[in-house]
Amino acid sequence: MRNDHKKVLRGKLCGIGIGPGDPKLLTLRAKEALEEAEVIFTPKGSDDGISVARKIIEQVIEGKKTYVELTFPMTKDKAVLKRYWKKAARRIAGEIKKGKQAAFVTLGDPFIYSTYIYLLRMIRQDYPRIKVETIPGISAFNAAASRAGFSLLEGKEKMAVLPVSETLEGIEEALEDFDTVVLMKVGAKLQKVIRLLKQKGLAKNAVLVSRAGHPNEKIIRNIASIKDKELGYLSVILVRSLPAKQ
Ligand SMILES: C[S@@+](CC[C@H](N)C(=O)[O-])C[C@H]1O[C@@H](n2cnc3c(N)ncnc32)[C@H](O)[C@@H]1O
Repeated sequence: MRNDHKKVLRGKLCGIGIGPGDPKLLTLRAKEALEEAEVIFTPKGSDDGISVARKIIEQVIEGKKTYVELTFPMTKDKAVLKRYWKKAARRIAGEIKKGKQAAFVTLGDPFIYSTYIYLLRMIRQDYPRIKVETIPGISAFNAAASRAGFSLLEGKEKMAVLPVSETLEGIEEALEDFDTVVLMKVGAKLQKVIRLLKQKGLAKNAVLVSRAGHPNEKIIRNIASIKDKELGYLSVILVRSLPAKQ
């Protein structure tokens, strides 16, 4: 560790937001940074799972790359997660200490509900000499709004972005205080959210966009009719808390 503080590291880490799924929505800088990278780290939820991010970038970058898939389990146990972030930080730092250019890719934007945030914090703590560049990406909610033709903010309006929890914490308050509410991480809580929006008379003001930018993208305006539970996964719900103007 003491050596880390003295050494000038040639390699660096690029945290790259790759957008929602359509490879054409990668920024020019993201593409360039992926091409510069020698080792590309991609996150996934379990050892035998597949990295969605890897599938997206493989469509746009040419040339041979070393891919390393890092597992981050879907748990809320902070102690377990910390172990995985530490292990991943060590693995990435190992490549950078060898002088390699490393990239860590993340869906959407790296600073919106992303593992990258925790990983970066760990790298800054354990390997402060590592140079880092973070490249923004188009977030899922931006892509969803464009695909659905849903105006997010006009004039003096305010918007809230929330993750959906089991208890739907904060959603009712957000619907009262903000003009637009963006719900992410819908998952298995989809029917609960639909029930709440129906109760509030807001279901008709909402649109669900599932897998925005992916080949199996779905845009559903009549969310009250949704029966398919799978639609909650990789989905955002956009809600106007007042009747839409257009
Ligand atoms: C861990 S968060 C990552 C958010 C990401 N960093 C971003 O800026 O979009 C995962 C959530 O993002 C949303 N999401 C990611 N990709 C999506 C897509 N292509 N279409 C719709 N929602 C998506 C879903 O709400 C999903 O539960």
